[in-house]
This record gives sequence, C-alpha cells and structure tokens, in this order.
Amino acid sequence: MTQKINFNGTIEEDPHISVFDHGFLFGDSVYEVIATHNNKPIFLTEHLNRLTNSAKGISLAIPYDQQWFVREVNRTVQIAGNEESYIRIIVTRGVGDIDIDPSSCQNPNVLIYVTPIKEYSPDNYSKGINVALVSIKRNPKEALNPGIKTGNYLNNVLAKMEANKLGAKDALMLSPTGYLTECTTSNIFFVLSGRVLTPSLDCGILRGITRDVVIQLSKENGLPVEEGQWPPETLEKADEIFITGTLKKIMPVTQLDGRSISDGKPGPVTQKLMRLYEKHFKSIDPF
Ligand code: PDD
Repeated sequence: MTQKINFNGTIEEDPHISVFDHGFLFGDSVYEVIATHNNKPIFLTEHLNRLTNSAKGISLAIPYDQQWFVREVNRTVQIAGNEESYIRIIVTRGVGDIDIDPSSCQNPNVLIYVTPIKEYSPDNYSKGINVALVSIKRNPKEALNPGIKTGNYLNNVLAKMEANKLGAKDALMLSPTGYLTECTTSNIFFVLSGRVLTPSLDCGILRGITRDVVIQLSKENGLPVEEGQWPPETLEKADEIFITGTLKKIMPVTQLDGRSISDGKPGPVTQKLMRLYEKHFKSIDPF
C-alpha cells in the first residue's frame, strides 16, 4: 500500500513544488478527486471533463490532453498498487513572479496524487451525521464561481472551522442571497413529501458528479426530483436530508444544527438511493 505522485509525467514518492508556484502563492489551480472500484478510477471521463472546464473557467491552459491523463492516472494507480485508491489531480498555474499577475507563469504543473483511500466510519452511514448551517456564505457566482473547482477553498475551510466549533461534521452554506447551496466538499439533497429536492446550479454550487448520478438514479427509479432555490427554513419541514460526494458517496444527515430530522435515523428514500448508488458504482466498467 503506497502513495505515489505523478509530477508532470514522472512518478515519485515525494516530489517538491516551488514556493514560487502560483498554486501555492494564490490558490491559483484547479483539481479533481476521484475514487476507485477494484482499484480502477470511476467516472474518470466525467472528472476529466470537469477539470477541463474548470481550467477554462480560470483561463489555465492544461499542457496535456485527456488521453494523457487517462494513461497517467491509470499508470500511477497501478504502480501504487493499493486495494482502493484516492486520486487527486491538481493543475497549478506554475512558477512565476511573486505578483498577482499570472502572465509570468509559463508552465503549469500537473500532479496526480494516489494514496490508499480512507473510508468513512460505517457509523456515519448507519446513524447519519450532524450538519450545521454556518454564517460563512458560499461565494457568489459572480465572484469565484463555485461551479469551477479551483484550489482556492479558503471559504470552505472557514465554513468547516465554524462547523467544527459547533460540533458538527460538516457545514451547510447559503448563497449571498440567502438560498441553500452546498456543504464544504459535497452537494446537499433533501426529501419533502416523497420528492427529492436539491439546490439548482444557478444557486452557485459545484455540479457534483455524484449529484448528477443521484438525480439520474432518482428519475429512473420513480422518485420525482426538483432542482430549485430554497431558503434554509425549507429544511425545517424536510423528512430526510443527505449529502453526496465522490468519497462519501451518499451520506445521511440525521441532525441539522443539533435538531433531529424526522426520527433521527437515515430515512427510506436516502437508504434506497444509497443502495442504488452502490450498485451503480460497482457495476461500472471503467474500460
Ligand atoms: N469535493 N461541492 C463541493 C464544494 C465539492 O468540493 C465537491 C467534491 C462536491 C461533490 O462533487 P463530486 O460528487 O463530483 O465529488 C460538491 C471533493 C470530493 C473534494 O474536494 O475532496
């Protein structure tokens, strides 16, 4: 079980990056996190498409094409030889002057970090987690658009710190106009009278790959889905809440701000979607 880092196509145990890299200096980078099944990357094309879009969103020219990434990700994962891997692809603006202007950065750096995956505690799934609505707002779309997955996560870091202080496992953020958006590294869904509801992309959220799959699975299995704009009070009436993300997949939320959701146990719709997601995830042939 090892950690391997592919740095611009060369696999090393512990490569070093310059302190003049704008990724380090300004969070000027984009990234993706990918999970494996049978140590094969799942939804790799979707993640690479989002990486490409994120790079476009910050006018960062990635020096390699998708075929290169597919080859190098698979090669690094195989050499690491873990049972299951956590894969993080990072593309930074590269080395430049200590100046906010990125025009001195000529060569983006590409890292593919592979390490054994750390599973969440089974308790998180069987009992659900506590989420807190925090005062830190999600960035407005007109600033650093949350739809672009950049390495600049300080907003979410602050939200997570606030959740920690409140004794919650994750933070739920509102948009600057007061609508539900998402958690620090996951999208949020809630169930209201049999309907599966989730904030729409125009609320200013990341278009989660897990979110897309959950929407598709819900529709295919007779669960009506609605994307929209909801104020936080809507959650007071929610029968169930869950969050989604590449690593956590579907995780039930059974407490919001310390208050139990329904009977305080993962609800039937959440459990059904958890089963459907697991089946779908394991049925994907990555090649
Ligand atoms: N985070 N929202 C935010 C802000 C995220 O950072 C993520 C993913 C998601 C869920 O997206 P997906 O289903 O594609 O993983 C939503 C990854 C896992 C991370 O940063 O570790």
